Amino acid sequence: MPPERAAAFAPGRVNLIGEHTDYNGGLALPFAISQGVTVRAEASDEQCIRALAVDIDEEDAFALHDRGRVEGWRAFVRGTVAELTSAGFPPPGARLQIVGDVPPGAGLSSSAALEVALCLALLALTGNRDGQPRDAAEGFPRPDGELSRAAGGLPRLEIARLCARVENDWVGAQTGLLDQLASLFGEVDTALCIDFATLGIDPVPLHLEDWRLVVLDSGERHLHAGGGYNERRAECARACELLGVRSLSEASAPEAQRLPEPLRRRALHVFAENDRVRAAAEVLRSGDLPALGALLSASHASLRDCFEVSTPAVEATVERLLRAGASGARIVGGGFGGSVLGLFPPDAHPPAGAREVRPGAGARLL
Ligand code: GLA
Repeated sequence: MPPERAAAFAPGRVNLIGEHTDYNGGLALPFAISQGVTVRAEASDEQCIRALAVDIDEEDAFALHDRGRVEGWRAFVRGTVAELTSAGFPPPGARLQIVGDVPPGAGLSSSAALEVALCLALLALTGNRDGQPRDAAEGFPRPDGELSRAAGGLPRLEIARLCARVENDWVGAQTGLLDQLASLFGEVDTALCIDFATLGIDPVPLHLEDWRLVVLDSGERHLHAGGGYNERRAECARACELLGVRSLSEASAPEAQRLPEPLRRRALHVFAENDRVRAAAEVLRSGDLPALGALLSASHASLRDCFEVSTPAVEATVERLLRAGASGARIVGGGFGGSVLGLFPPDAHPPAGAREVRPGAGARLL
Protein backbone atom coordinates (compact mmCIF):
# COMPACT_ATOMS: atom_id res chain seq x y z
CA MET A 1 0.00 0.00 0.00
CA PRO A 2 1.36 3.45 -0.86
CA PRO A 3 1.76 5.64 2.23
CA GLU A 4 -0.86 8.30 3.02
CA ARG A 5 1.77 10.81 4.00
CA ALA A 6 5.26 11.61 2.81
CA ALA A 7 7.72 14.44 3.28
CA ALA A 8 10.84 15.27 1.32
CA PHE A 9 13.66 17.78 1.67
CA ALA A 10 15.77 18.95 -1.25
CA PRO A 11 18.72 21.33 -0.84
CA GLY A 12 19.75 24.31 -2.89
CA ARG A 13 23.30 24.37 -4.20
CA VAL A 14 26.37 26.49 -4.57
CA ASN A 15 28.37 25.97 -7.71
CA LEU A 16 32.00 26.24 -6.68
CA ILE A 17 33.11 26.70 -10.28
CA GLY A 18 31.98 25.75 -13.80
CA GLU A 19 29.30 28.25 -14.79
CA HIS A 20 27.27 28.05 -18.02
CA THR A 21 29.07 24.83 -18.87
CA ASP A 22 26.27 22.36 -18.10
CA TYR A 23 24.20 23.01 -21.23
CA ASN A 24 27.46 23.14 -23.21
CA GLY A 25 28.48 19.56 -22.45
CA GLY A 26 31.23 20.76 -20.09
CA LEU A 27 32.28 20.40 -16.47
CA ALA A 28 31.05 21.89 -13.18
CA LEU A 29 31.88 21.45 -9.50
CA PRO A 30 28.77 22.17 -7.37
CA PHE A 31 27.85 21.13 -3.84
CA ALA A 32 24.51 20.88 -2.04
CA ILE A 33 23.97 23.31 0.88
CA SER A 34 21.97 22.90 4.07
CA GLN A 35 19.23 25.36 3.04
CA GLY A 36 16.46 23.95 0.88
CA VAL A 37 12.79 23.21 0.40
CA THR A 38 10.60 20.78 2.36
CA VAL A 39 7.37 19.43 0.88
CA ARG A 40 4.87 17.60 3.11
CA ALA A 41 2.28 15.64 1.15
CA GLU A 42 -0.88 13.94 2.33
CA ALA A 43 -2.96 11.80 -0.04
CA SER A 44 -6.63 12.78 -0.32
CA ASP A 45 -9.71 11.22 -1.92
CA GLU A 46 -10.20 14.25 -4.15
CA GLN A 47 -8.98 14.11 -7.74
CA CYS A 48 -7.05 17.32 -7.25
CA ILE A 49 -3.92 18.83 -5.76
CA ARG A 50 -4.23 21.54 -3.12
CA ALA A 51 -0.91 23.23 -2.47
CA LEU A 52 0.02 25.82 0.13
CA ALA A 53 3.24 27.85 -0.19
CA VAL A 54 3.61 28.55 3.52
CA ASP A 55 6.34 31.22 3.35
CA ILE A 56 4.35 33.50 1.07
CA ASP A 57 0.90 32.33 2.24
CA GLU A 58 -0.39 31.55 -1.25
CA GLU A 59 -2.51 28.61 -2.34
CA ASP A 60 -3.25 26.74 -5.52
CA ALA A 61 -5.78 24.03 -6.32
CA PHE A 62 -6.09 22.18 -9.62
CA ALA A 63 -7.57 18.96 -10.98
CA LEU A 64 -5.05 16.16 -11.52
CA HIS A 65 -5.65 16.19 -15.27
CA ASP A 66 -5.51 20.01 -15.56
CA ARG A 67 -2.70 21.03 -17.96
CA GLY A 68 -3.48 24.77 -17.90
CA ARG A 69 -0.49 27.13 -17.81
CA VAL A 70 0.20 29.23 -14.70
CA GLU A 71 3.08 31.36 -13.46
CA GLY A 72 5.52 31.42 -10.53
CA TRP A 73 5.69 28.63 -7.94
CA ARG A 74 2.37 27.20 -9.18
CA ALA A 75 4.00 26.27 -12.49
CA PHE A 76 6.48 24.04 -10.61
CA VAL A 77 3.69 22.14 -8.83
CA ARG A 78 1.55 21.66 -11.93
CA GLY A 79 4.56 20.78 -14.05
CA THR A 80 5.79 18.16 -11.56
CA VAL A 81 2.37 16.49 -11.42
CA ALA A 82 2.12 16.49 -15.23
CA GLU A 83 5.66 15.19 -15.81
CA LEU A 84 5.31 12.45 -13.19
CA THR A 85 2.08 11.38 -14.85
CA SER A 86 3.72 11.29 -18.31
CA ALA A 87 6.62 9.28 -16.87
CA GLY A 88 4.17 6.60 -15.66
CA PHE A 89 4.05 7.64 -11.99
CA PRO A 90 0.70 9.49 -11.71
CA PRO A 91 0.40 10.99 -8.23
CA PRO A 92 -2.86 10.61 -6.31
CA GLY A 93 -4.94 13.60 -5.20
CA ALA A 94 -3.02 15.29 -2.39
CA ARG A 95 -2.59 18.27 -0.09
CA LEU A 96 0.90 19.78 -0.21
CA GLN A 97 2.65 22.12 2.17
CA ILE A 98 5.76 23.81 0.86
CA VAL A 99 8.30 25.51 3.14
CA GLY A 100 11.75 26.72 2.20
CA ASP A 101 14.70 28.82 3.27
CA VAL A 102 16.55 29.36 -0.03
CA PRO A 103 15.91 32.93 -1.20
CA PRO A 104 14.38 32.82 -4.72
CA GLY A 105 16.45 34.42 -7.47
CA ALA A 106 19.61 34.50 -5.34
CA GLY A 107 21.56 32.06 -7.50
CA LEU A 108 21.33 29.26 -4.91
CA SER A 109 18.89 27.18 -6.90
CA SER A 110 15.63 27.57 -5.06
CA SER A 111 13.97 26.27 -8.25
CA ALA A 112 15.72 22.90 -8.27
CA ALA A 113 15.14 22.53 -4.52
CA LEU A 114 11.43 23.06 -5.10
CA GLU A 115 11.21 20.71 -8.11
CA VAL A 116 13.18 17.93 -6.47
CA ALA A 117 11.32 18.11 -3.13
CA LEU A 118 7.95 18.11 -4.94
CA CYS A 119 9.01 15.21 -7.12
CA LEU A 120 10.31 13.04 -4.26
CA ALA A 121 7.29 13.68 -2.01
CA LEU A 122 4.77 12.96 -4.79
CA LEU A 123 6.71 9.90 -5.95
CA ALA A 124 6.64 8.58 -2.38
CA LEU A 125 2.85 8.91 -2.39
CA THR A 126 2.79 6.58 -5.41
CA GLY A 127 4.68 4.02 -3.30
CA ASN A 128 8.00 4.74 -4.98
CA ARG A 129 10.75 5.06 -2.39
CA ASP A 130 13.56 6.18 -4.65
CA GLY A 131 13.70 9.37 -2.67
CA GLN A 132 15.29 7.53 0.23
CA PRO A 133 18.75 8.66 1.24
CA ARG A 134 21.16 7.35 -1.35
CA ASP A 135 22.83 4.33 0.15
CA ALA A 136 26.54 3.95 -0.39
CA ALA A 137 26.07 0.91 -2.61
CA GLU A 138 24.04 2.96 -5.06
CA GLY A 139 27.11 4.95 -6.02
CA PHE A 140 27.26 7.92 -8.35
CA PRO A 141 26.34 7.84 -12.00
CA ARG A 142 29.28 6.34 -13.83
CA PRO A 143 31.04 8.22 -16.59
CA ASP A 144 28.97 6.29 -19.15
CA GLY A 145 25.98 8.03 -17.62
CA GLU A 146 24.39 4.83 -16.38
CA LEU A 147 23.24 4.59 -12.79
CA SER A 148 24.80 1.80 -10.80
CA ARG A 149 21.36 1.13 -9.35
CA ALA A 150 18.33 1.20 -11.57
CA ALA A 151 16.15 -1.29 -9.71
CA GLY A 152 12.47 -0.34 -10.02
CA GLY A 153 11.01 3.13 -9.98
CA LEU A 154 12.80 6.22 -11.13
CA PRO A 155 16.59 6.34 -10.78
CA ARG A 156 17.87 9.67 -9.51
CA LEU A 157 19.34 10.60 -12.87
CA GLU A 158 15.85 10.27 -14.35
CA ILE A 159 14.42 12.34 -11.49
CA ALA A 160 16.94 15.06 -12.38
CA ARG A 161 15.85 14.95 -16.03
CA LEU A 162 12.18 15.04 -15.08
CA CYS A 163 12.75 18.07 -12.85
CA ALA A 164 14.66 19.82 -15.64
CA ARG A 165 11.67 19.25 -17.96
CA VAL A 166 9.45 20.94 -15.36
CA GLU A 167 11.73 23.97 -15.45
CA ASN A 168 12.19 24.00 -19.24
CA ASP A 169 8.66 23.23 -20.39
CA TRP A 170 6.46 24.50 -17.56
CA VAL A 171 8.39 27.38 -16.03
CA GLY A 172 10.05 28.47 -19.29
CA ALA A 173 13.69 28.60 -18.16
CA GLN A 174 15.97 26.68 -20.54
CA THR A 175 18.28 25.65 -17.71
CA GLY A 176 20.59 22.61 -17.78
CA LEU A 177 20.95 19.77 -15.26
CA LEU A 178 23.50 21.32 -12.89
CA ASP A 179 21.14 22.31 -10.10
CA GLN A 180 19.03 19.15 -10.06
CA LEU A 181 22.07 16.84 -10.04
CA ALA A 182 23.69 18.84 -7.21
CA SER A 183 20.49 18.71 -5.16
CA LEU A 184 19.94 14.99 -5.74
CA PHE A 185 23.52 13.71 -5.41
CA GLY A 186 24.99 16.13 -2.82
CA GLU A 187 27.07 14.71 0.01
CA VAL A 188 28.53 16.16 3.21
CA ASP A 189 32.04 17.64 2.75
CA THR A 190 31.97 16.80 -0.94
CA ALA A 191 31.83 18.71 -4.20
CA LEU A 192 30.59 16.87 -7.29
CA CYS A 193 32.70 17.06 -10.41
CA ILE A 194 30.01 16.56 -13.05
CA ASP A 195 30.86 15.86 -16.67
CA PHE A 196 27.79 16.94 -18.63
CA ALA A 197 28.98 15.14 -21.75
CA THR A 198 28.47 11.80 -20.00
CA LEU A 199 26.57 12.77 -16.83
CA GLY A 200 29.22 10.95 -14.85
CA ILE A 201 29.82 12.35 -11.35
CA ASP A 202 33.18 12.23 -9.63
CA PRO A 203 32.98 13.13 -5.90
CA VAL A 204 35.79 15.45 -4.77
CA PRO A 205 36.44 15.90 -1.01
CA LEU A 206 35.87 19.53 -0.04
CA HIS A 207 37.73 20.06 3.22
CA LEU A 208 38.26 23.72 3.92
CA GLU A 209 40.03 23.41 7.30
CA ASP A 210 39.83 26.95 8.77
CA TRP A 211 38.95 28.57 5.47
CA ARG A 212 35.35 29.64 4.81
CA LEU A 213 33.13 29.82 1.76
CA VAL A 214 30.45 32.49 2.06
CA VAL A 215 27.69 33.84 -0.15
CA LEU A 216 26.76 37.49 -0.20
CA ASP A 217 23.52 38.52 -1.87
CA SER A 218 23.87 41.30 -4.46
CA GLY A 219 20.26 42.23 -3.68
CA GLU A 220 19.41 41.95 -7.36
CA ARG A 221 16.93 39.22 -8.29
CA HIS A 222 17.05 37.32 -11.54
CA LEU A 223 14.38 35.38 -13.38
CA HIS A 224 15.81 32.78 -15.73
CA ALA A 225 12.48 32.38 -17.51
CA GLY A 226 12.49 35.94 -18.80
CA GLY A 227 16.05 37.15 -18.59
CA GLY A 228 19.32 36.95 -20.40
CA TYR A 229 19.82 33.30 -19.43
CA ASN A 230 17.73 31.94 -22.31
CA GLU A 231 19.48 34.40 -24.65
CA ARG A 232 22.91 33.02 -23.61
CA ARG A 233 21.68 29.51 -24.26
CA ALA A 234 20.47 30.49 -27.69
CA GLU A 235 23.83 32.13 -28.47
CA CYS A 236 25.68 28.95 -27.51
CA ALA A 237 23.33 26.87 -29.67
CA ARG A 238 24.02 29.22 -32.60
CA ALA A 239 27.79 28.92 -32.03
CA CYS A 240 27.44 25.11 -32.15
CA GLU A 241 25.57 25.33 -35.45
CA LEU A 242 28.29 27.51 -36.97
CA LEU A 243 31.05 25.22 -35.72
CA GLY A 244 29.19 22.03 -36.68
CA VAL A 245 29.40 20.48 -33.21
CA ARG A 246 26.70 19.11 -30.90
CA SER A 247 27.99 20.95 -27.85
CA LEU A 248 30.50 23.76 -27.43
CA SER A 249 32.79 21.62 -25.27
CA GLU A 250 33.50 19.47 -28.35
CA ALA A 251 35.07 22.44 -30.13
CA SER A 252 38.47 24.03 -29.48
CA ALA A 253 39.67 27.58 -28.89
CA PRO A 254 41.40 27.91 -32.31
CA GLU A 255 38.19 26.81 -34.07
CA ALA A 256 36.16 29.34 -32.06
CA GLN A 257 38.32 32.20 -33.40
CA ARG A 258 36.27 32.21 -36.61
CA LEU A 259 32.97 32.80 -34.78
CA PRO A 260 31.43 36.29 -34.99
CA GLU A 261 31.27 38.32 -31.78
CA PRO A 262 29.80 37.89 -29.21
CA LEU A 263 29.65 34.14 -29.97
CA ARG A 264 33.47 33.91 -30.02
CA ARG A 265 33.72 35.26 -26.47
CA ARG A 266 30.88 33.01 -25.25
CA ALA A 267 32.70 29.94 -26.58
CA LEU A 268 36.07 31.02 -25.16
CA HIS A 269 34.45 31.32 -21.73
CA VAL A 270 33.17 27.74 -21.94
CA PHE A 271 36.56 26.25 -22.92
CA ALA A 272 38.47 28.15 -20.23
CA GLU A 273 35.83 27.45 -17.59
CA ASN A 274 36.08 23.69 -18.26
CA ASP A 275 39.86 23.96 -17.72
CA ARG A 276 39.29 25.87 -14.47
CA VAL A 277 36.96 23.13 -13.19
CA ARG A 278 39.66 20.52 -13.83
CA ALA A 279 42.21 22.73 -12.08
CA ALA A 280 39.86 23.37 -9.13
CA ALA A 281 39.25 19.64 -8.61
CA GLU A 282 43.05 19.18 -8.57
CA VAL A 283 43.67 21.96 -6.03
CA LEU A 284 40.91 20.59 -3.76
CA ARG A 285 42.61 17.22 -3.84
CA SER A 286 45.97 18.77 -3.01
CA GLY A 287 44.52 21.22 -0.44
CA ASP A 288 45.95 24.28 -2.19
CA LEU A 289 43.18 26.70 -1.13
CA PRO A 290 44.91 29.96 -2.18
CA ALA A 291 45.04 28.55 -5.72
CA LEU A 292 41.30 27.90 -5.51
CA GLY A 293 40.73 31.60 -4.71
CA ALA A 294 42.60 32.62 -7.87
CA LEU A 295 40.49 30.24 -9.97
CA LEU A 296 37.25 31.69 -8.53
CA SER A 297 38.32 35.21 -9.47
CA ALA A 298 39.41 34.11 -12.95
CA SER A 299 36.01 32.47 -13.45
CA HIS A 300 34.30 35.69 -12.42
CA ALA A 301 36.38 37.81 -14.81
CA SER A 302 35.41 35.50 -17.67
CA LEU A 303 31.71 35.53 -16.71
CA ARG A 304 31.86 39.33 -16.61
CA ASP A 305 33.91 40.00 -19.75
CA CYS A 306 33.28 37.04 -22.07
CA PHE A 307 29.90 35.68 -21.02
CA GLU A 308 28.57 39.08 -19.91
CA VAL A 309 26.27 37.92 -17.13
CA SER A 310 27.42 40.34 -14.42
CA THR A 311 25.74 43.58 -13.34
CA PRO A 312 26.91 46.69 -11.44
CA ALA A 313 25.28 45.36 -8.24
CA VAL A 314 27.15 42.06 -8.62
CA GLU A 315 30.45 43.88 -9.27
CA ALA A 316 29.96 45.96 -6.12
CA THR A 317 29.33 42.74 -4.15
CA VAL A 318 32.49 41.10 -5.53
CA GLU A 319 34.44 44.24 -4.52
CA ARG A 320 33.02 44.11 -0.97
CA LEU A 321 34.15 40.51 -0.56
CA LEU A 322 37.63 41.16 -1.95
CA ARG A 323 38.08 44.29 0.19
CA ALA A 324 37.16 42.20 3.26
CA GLY A 325 40.05 39.86 2.44
CA ALA A 326 38.50 37.13 0.26
CA SER A 327 41.17 35.27 -1.68
CA GLY A 328 38.72 34.98 -4.59
CA ALA A 329 35.11 35.78 -5.42
CA ARG A 330 32.69 35.00 -8.23
CA ILE A 331 29.07 35.27 -9.22
CA VAL A 332 27.22 31.96 -8.74
CA GLY A 333 24.44 30.49 -10.85
CA GLY A 334 22.96 31.88 -14.04
CA GLY A 335 23.99 35.48 -13.38
CA PHE A 336 22.24 38.81 -14.00
CA GLY A 337 22.03 39.29 -10.23
CA GLY A 338 21.88 36.78 -7.39
CA SER A 339 24.66 35.90 -4.98
CA VAL A 340 28.43 36.13 -5.02
CA LEU A 341 30.62 33.39 -3.57
CA GLY A 342 33.74 34.34 -1.64
CA LEU A 343 36.56 32.20 -0.27
CA PHE A 344 38.03 33.52 3.00
CA PRO A 345 41.35 32.56 4.58
CA PRO A 346 41.31 31.87 8.35
CA ASP A 347 42.38 35.37 9.43
CA ALA A 348 39.92 37.37 7.27
CA HIS A 349 36.39 38.40 8.27
CA PRO A 350 33.55 38.23 5.75
CA PRO A 351 31.46 41.43 5.51
CA ALA A 352 28.10 41.88 7.25
CA GLY A 353 25.32 39.95 5.54
CA ALA A 354 27.61 37.19 4.21
CA ARG A 355 26.45 33.66 5.03
CA GLU A 356 28.76 30.71 5.38
CA VAL A 357 27.93 27.73 3.13
CA ARG A 358 29.13 24.17 3.63
CA PRO A 359 28.68 21.10 1.47
CA GLY A 360 25.74 19.12 2.87
CA ALA A 361 23.69 16.02 2.13
CA GLY A 362 21.51 15.66 -0.95
CA ALA A 363 17.73 15.34 -1.27
CA ARG A 364 15.97 12.79 0.89
CA LEU A 365 12.67 11.60 2.24
CA LEU A 366 12.08 12.70 5.83
C1 GLA B 1 21.42 28.20 -13.61
C2 GLA B 1 20.88 26.98 -14.35
C3 GLA B 1 21.94 25.89 -14.48
C4 GLA B 1 23.26 26.44 -15.00
C5 GLA B 1 23.66 27.72 -14.27
C6 GLA B 1 24.84 28.39 -14.89
O1 GLA B 1 21.68 27.89 -12.27
O2 GLA B 1 19.77 26.47 -13.68
O3 GLA B 1 21.45 24.85 -15.29
O4 GLA B 1 23.20 26.64 -16.38
O5 GLA B 1 22.60 28.67 -14.23
O6 GLA B 1 25.98 27.63 -14.68
